[in-house]
Formats: sequence, structure tokens, C-alpha cells
Amino acid sequence: MTAPVLVTGGTGTLGRLVVPRLRDAGCDVRVLSRRDHEAADGIEFVTGDLATGERIEAAVDGARTIVHCAGSSKGDEDKARNLVRAASRAGAAHLVYISVVGADRIPTGSRVDRAMFGYFGSKLAAERIVADSGLPFTTLRATQFHDLLLTVAQQMAKLPVIPAPAGFRVQPIDTAEVAARLVELTLGKPAGLVPDMGGPRAYGIADLLRGYLRAVHRRRPIAPLRLPGKGARAFRDGANLAPEQAVGHRTWEDFLAERLGT
Ligand SMILES: NC(=O)c1ccc[n+]([C@@H]2O[C@H](COP(=O)([O-])OP(=O)(O)OC[C@H]3O[C@@H](n4cnc5c(N)ncnc54)[C@H](OP(=O)(O)O)[C@@H]3O)[C@@H](O)[C@H]2O)c1
Repeated sequence: MTAPVLVTGGTGTLGRLVVPRLRDAGCDVRVLSRRDHEAADGIEFVTGDLATGERIEAAVDGARTIVHCAGSSKGDEDKARNLVRAASRAGAAHLVYISVVGADRIPTGSRVDRAMFGYFGSKLAAERIVADSGLPFTTLRATQFHDLLLTVAQQMAKLPVIPAPAGFRVQPIDTAEVAARLVELTLGKPAGLVPDMGGPRAYGIADLLRGYLRAVHRRRPIAPLRLPGKGARAFRDGANLAPEQAVGHRTWEDFLAERLGT
């Protein structure tokens, strides 16, 4: 048996698409999850928690390559710290990390900025933990996934009037395209921080929401909302976008048509 590739977050939106691609490439795969899962299709599961540190040693044991896709809206720096500590002790040879475009450009210094954009600060802190770990690493920053924006649009459309942060744009990217790139990087040599990955085009938030409402044949008024703070200003300046790296192919419209069957 060859050394397994450990995929943290292998049960998540992105990780679920990474795992089968690694299997197709001939890798043995181990997934770390907080819940118990039965081994299946050549995939081994370890139950553990990156936030508490529980059973991370068992997860990294014998894994030469680690793809770190586990994440949440808060605390990704703690998860990265715990993972890096265990991976370093176990002598891992390549740590691949998925971060977000704008992690280094969205200010999160003030209380207001942290409340709205703390996720970006957390991702930057996690990136630094990975880069400073001494482990050979590769970090890819991607823009927002279609799946996430669909969930947001579905939630927002429940409101009678949808507030849309004025001047904010997003550059949705297909999760499967990010998964394919992450696997390509995983199978390659450690490359440090690689070029960003963005979707094919950027949309104002109101346009993005209108695209969703059209696809589900609904109507809702959209009200522009001016958000305060430096983080919001950075968003209005496009700090979360990768216009030079619009390498994704699948558009928001194509995604909606396929996912919603419209
Ligand atoms: N979504 C986006 O638009 C976007 C854009 C750029 C970058 N990213 C990054 O891509 C990564 C994956 O995002 P996603 O959308 O696939 O997230 P997701 O669907 O919410 O999945 C999160 C995954 O993280 C795991 N996880 C969370 N907390 C954990 C913990 N304490 N210990 C162990 N595992 C934990 C979950 O596993 P269990 O529940 O099975 O434990 C789950 O598999 C994240 O790092 C995110 O920041 C996302």
C-alpha cells in the first residue's frame, strides 16, 4: 500500500470533489472528519477535530501529502496551527492549502471590519502558519464558489426585500474547477503561493442575485446597502477579485441552469 493522501475537509463542498479526483489519479485517500464514516471506495476515514486537536496524529500518520480543505467561517488559523504541528512531527512532505482571494487585501483590524470580514483575516493567518511551518507547501487562493453563492442567494431570497452591499462585486468560480486545480497542485511539487484562481467574470451583488431570481422565476426588490469600514471599502475597490486570473470557465448562469434545471 502506498502512503495515503490526507484530505481534511474531504466531506465538504470542495473536498468531496477533490477526493474522487485523487482516487482517479491512483492515490490512496484518507479523510479527516468530525463525524464517523464507513470506509468506502478505497477511502479511509479518521474521526477527529482540527479545532480541538483530537485525533489529528492518527490522521497525519504515514501521510506524505496533506490537502487541507477543512474550513469554517471562524477559527481557520487554529485549525491550521494544530494540523501543521502534527504534520511537522509526522514528517509530511507536502501541505496543500486552499485560501481565498483577498485574504491579504481585506483589512480586518477594526471591530466593525472583523465582524464582517473576519473570515479573510483568519485565512491570511492560516496561510502564514502554513508558509512559516517549515513544511514544503502549496497555497491556492480562489474566489467565491458557485455553491456558496447559491446558498447565500437562496437565503437572501427568503427576505421580502434583499439588501445588497453597494459596490461589492464577486467573481464566482466553479467548485469542480477549483478541485481539479487543487489536485493538479497536489500531484505536483510544492510550489508556495501559486497564482490566484478566479471565475470567468465578476458580477455586482445585485446582478448576481437577479440572475438567481430569474433562474427560479421569482421577483424581489433589491435595496443597495452602503456598508461602513475599511474592509467594505476594500471590497468596493475589488480586493476580493482576481481580474487578471479569470481562469474559470463555467459561468454563474451555466451553473444555475444546470443545478436548478432551469
Ligand atoms: N466556499 C467558498 O466560496 C470558498 C472560496 C475560497 C476558499 N474557500 C476555502 O475552501 C475550503 C473548503 O470550503 P467549502 O466550501 O468546501 O467548506 P464546507 O463545505 O463548509 O466544508 C467544510 C469542511 O471542513 C470540515 N471541518 C470544519 N471544521 C472542522 C474541524 N474543526 N475539524 C475537522 N474538519 C473540519 C468539515 O468536515 P466535517 O463536517 O465532516 O467534520 C467539512 O468537510 C475552506 O478552507 C474555505 O475557506 C472557500
